Amino acid sequence: MSDRTVEEREYVLGTRSEELLRLGFQHQVWAPVTSALWQRAGFAPGHRLLDVGSGPGYATFDLAALAGATGHVLGVDVSRRFVDHLVAEAAARRISNVGAELQDVEGLTLPAGSLDGAFARWVLCFTTRPEQVVQAVAGALREGGTFAVMDYSNYTALDVAPYSPAVERVVHATAESVRRRGGSMDVGRDLPRMMRAAGLEVVHLAPIVRLARPGTALWKWPETFFFGYLPTLLEMELITEDDADAFRSVWRDRSADPDAFLTTPPMVEIIGRKSG
Ligand SMILES: C[S@@+](CC[C@H](N)C(=O)[O-])C[C@H]1O[C@@H](n2cnc3c(N)ncnc32)[C@H](O)[C@@H]1O
Repeated sequence: MSDRTVEEREYVLGTRSEELLRLGFQHQVWAPVTSALWQRAGFAPGHRLLDVGSGPGYATFDLAALAGATGHVLGVDVSRRFVDHLVAEAAARRISNVGAELQDVEGLTLPAGSLDGAFARWVLCFTTRPEQVVQAVAGALREGGTFAVMDYSNYTALDVAPYSPAVERVVHATAESVRRRGGSMDVGRDLPRMMRAAGLEVVHLAPIVRLARPGTALWKWPETFFFGYLPTLLEMELITEDDADAFRSVWRDRSADPDAFLTTPPMVEIIGRKSG
């Protein structure tokens, strides 16, 4: 795959350094929920794990700490910049149980039965054929191995109180921007069916929805995303300059309102176990 092709295939949110920082912050906010899911999936020392669409590797390194010296984690991502970052970080931190590969997970090829576990967070929503990714991961799991996924199931339910049409417009435009690139911010709804079709028994399925109040890290999570993403929505002509201004103004008002809160976009956490 040429560099040009890789750049073209990079995901809708971009891979610039601001996105790298945003992903790090996002990981901090969601690390406790993520880590609880790994425990539930039975990820443990000595395991061979896969981080599907690892990005720059924030979760990958935590998985490596969990897998320990006798385990191994492979991060796979379609972005060369993220994969390079992951490799450089592993070298700088002298972490030897982490590897990274530049691969489109829709064409994932891994030896059958080579994994004890796999993890995918906020990745399947950007793929055009998530069922193929689930199939490929299932094929690479050993019997009893688990695939743990966290992904959006009803993105446009993201809501700010008091209600604002300006925020609603931007949330809907965001979901549409992903849809235009072939993804779905509601992919979580289809995951139980996809897992079952791939021979994975769904052993855990739960919603993740939280309320955030102004001034908290959880409140800042969508804020950092939307403020960075408005230019892309404008470029894609999904919103107007007036829409963007209205959004910024309402967000500032709500951020200063002690009675405001937001509902995070609903996600599902799901674990599929490979049965014999
Ligand atoms: C929102 S980021 C999430 C990164 C990481 N999973 C995390 O939770 O921090 C989405 C990632 O999916 C990757 N991605 C999107 N489509 C992909 C594909 N078809 N194959 C491999 N990686 C992909 C992007 O390059 C990006 O790194």
